[in-house]
Amino acid sequence: MSFMRKLVSVLAFSAISTSAAFAGQPLKIGMILPMSGPFAAYGKQILNGANLYIKQNGSSVADRQVKLIVKDDTGIAPELSKRHAQELLIKDKVDILAGFGLSPSAFSVAPLATQAKKPMIVLNAATSSITTKSPYITRVSFTLAQVTAPVASWAIDNDIKNVYTIVSDYGPGHDAEQQFIKTFTEAGGNIIASIRAPVSNPDFSAYVQRAKDAKPDAIFLFVPSGEQGVAFSKEFKQRGLQDAGIQLIATGDLTDEHVLDTMGEPAIGLITSYHYSQAHESEENDAYVKAYLEEYPNMRPNFMSVAGYDGMHVIYSALEQNDGNADGPQFIQAISGMEWTSPRGPVTIDPETRDIVQDIYIRKVEQQGSVLQNIEFDKVEQFADPGK
Ligand code: PHB
Repeated sequence: MSFMRKLVSVLAFSAISTSAAFAGQPLKIGMILPMSGPFAAYGKQILNGANLYIKQNGSSVADRQVKLIVKDDTGIAPELSKRHAQELLIKDKVDILAGFGLSPSAFSVAPLATQAKKPMIVLNAATSSITTKSPYITRVSFTLAQVTAPVASWAIDNDIKNVYTIVSDYGPGHDAEQQFIKTFTEAGGNIIASIRAPVSNPDFSAYVQRAKDAKPDAIFLFVPSGEQGVAFSKEFKQRGLQDAGIQLIATGDLTDEHVLDTMGEPAIGLITSYHYSQAHESEENDAYVKAYLEEYPNMRPNFMSVAGYDGMHVIYSALEQNDGNADGPQFIQAISGMEWTSPRGPVTIDPETRDIVQDIYIRKVEQQGSVLQNIEFDKVEQFADPGK
């Protein structure tokens, strides 16, 4: 046999033997998500997106049958998230950890991903520092700093000079507060006060009244998406802040499609900045929204569903690239610099931080037919997390 023929056959054999090492073995993905409690919608939306991707792209990748194993961590319960991760790694022998609706859950699991050298894919939790807690973490959602800076710039450009900030008192709230203050004051704005509300069961009435009495031009708000935003906007309306000339600005967590219809009329006109809107105009999003509504007619696609969908895209692409190998170091190598067009727009995984780089849109809530939508009217292109 000539040298070249020999080389070719050796290379062919090694290619077959590496894929054979994983082919036929199931690809087990341990999904740690809130499936019950006040944040149950997070788990549902993320799984909807992930399952839609699997439906569209097949239930196996690189000759491996994809198996999602879902564990309910009930929301803010870091010890429970950690226990689930331990069990998934030891008993179920999962190849990949994914999910993480809330930041405390992602922080508690990060050291286990490092120990086990398994990829950990964050599908929501948005405190900037999460990705620094393990070299095997990547994030396909967003960070609070990333979605806050653009609305702070918008405020300055729109004659808002004095702002009162209110955030949830935990990681993502602290990041939002810090970034808002930084971007806004560096551009000449003034912060009247920065208030933190408890993340569990806050009663916003006193907070809203005190903010009104301080007479700011605007309140900047971050609360985790869901009922809290609905409660806040109700107080804002009832206590007459809008009539007093105070504007409410926020990250898009407030006007998440999952709760927008419940917020109703008080939501109309709200300005937010965010990485995903159901109303985003693109071919990819049109197809996504159509497929989502066909599959889940009683829900609306939101940013969490898109993160679940994109998370599966990242997993499928990395596995294809690595012939089915899902080990942490190889996985991270495969996703570094990965680019694709998400329903949200063009995105890249930053090879330095393993965090997502994406367009951040400024949007206004408008009534379109019988539904409320976040209508994008401006954007900051390919914006990396400024919070690290
Ligand atoms: C988080 O806990 O990181 C989190 C939860 C909900 C959001 C944003 C961030 O809407």
